[in-house]
Amino acid sequence: MNNYYQYLLNDLSCDRETLVELLTDPDTELRTALFRQAALVRNRETGNKVFFRGLIEYSNQCSKDCKYCGIRVSNPVVDRYALSDEEVIEAAVFAWKSRLGSVVLQSGERSDRAFIHKITHLLERIQEATNGELKVTLSCGEQTEETFRTWFQAGGTRYLLRIETSNSGLFESLHPVDGKHLFRTRLKALESLKKTGYQTGTGVMIGLPGQTAEMLALDLAFFKNFNVDMVGMGPYLETEGSDMDDRSNLWSLNERLELSLRMVALLRLLMKDVNIAASTALQAIDPDARIEAIRCGANVLMPNITPLKYRENYQLYNNKPGLTVDGAQNIKYWEEQLKNTECIPAWDEAGDPLHFQHRNYKTEKQKAMS
Ligand code: 5AD
Repeated sequence: MNNYYQYLLNDLSCDRETLVELLTDPDTELRTALFRQAALVRNRETGNKVFFRGLIEYSNQCSKDCKYCGIRVSNPVVDRYALSDEEVIEAAVFAWKSRLGSVVLQSGERSDRAFIHKITHLLERIQEATNGELKVTLSCGEQTEETFRTWFQAGGTRYLLRIETSNSGLFESLHPVDGKHLFRTRLKALESLKKTGYQTGTGVMIGLPGQTAEMLALDLAFFKNFNVDMVGMGPYLETEGSDMDDRSNLWSLNERLELSLRMVALLRLLMKDVNIAASTALQAIDPDARIEAIRCGANVLMPNITPLKYRENYQLYNNKPGLTVDGAQNIKYWEEQLKNTECIPAWDEAGDPLHFQHRNYKTEKQKAMS
């Protein structure tokens, strides 16, 4: 490989110009080198195992109105649902018996008391039903620190809350100005998650209208500076029922896909021990793109195990894949797909991000030395 590329990739920093070059340079030799290096770093630092998280889309009831999202509160054509307790437990037990090691409980954002209690109750019941062996990641939006603590004590160990973009101006353009969609509140929620003790995950949408490669480079720097444990990021996709006013200046689908894969690879080089998901949205552009993400540094797959009858009502974006593929078929599918890579599924493993252990170890050490 060209020495200059080798030098860039071996010693990658958050230098914005370099990251922009690596995100956009059409040189195929560079692209191949970047993806290969990212896979090697993943294999060396976290092993060649891929963690499976069973994704349970608990409810599409949402109090927020994010302009890009298909289940925003003001989209009238969505049939609103919430799974029954039994359906959630059944899905969790299925994941446990299928040896997935963990599930993600995801839902639209609500912060009323009934919802907070319900999630607490579900966390407790999942622990009981699976001998405390199944780990639960929550992805239920912005909450107060108190709520985060309640859910942590009830058994939630990881939390995913995407920053969506680390550019506050772009964030504002994607949300209504109503005091309920504030960039600083999102940041504060992320800080509360870390403080509470969660393995903390965030992420961004890639190829948003008005988003530049410079902004994406700064998103990478944001992940690094915020010291996150897990990242899920994928292409922005158009949505029925959305309210995106800026339709000019759009990245093509291929560009969004390419940028997304390069973001995964670059993040792997910048944060060697974090968990990185091969996000579902990738697959809406290209059926092979999630496996491509594994080939360039990702180490988490989230097979959807939501009961089939609810799937079409949880469409955050158009062309969402897997509406008719049930949990068992999905797990089998990804197990087979992984055979086309150098990775293997990590059965029965919770798959805590190594980064979380490393950052806690550092904090303990600092405490001991002070
Ligand atoms: N395109 C891509 N991703 C989207 N999400 C919501 N709407 C879209 C869309 N139109 C993502 C957001 C959110 C996550 C649950 O789904 O990043 O945090």
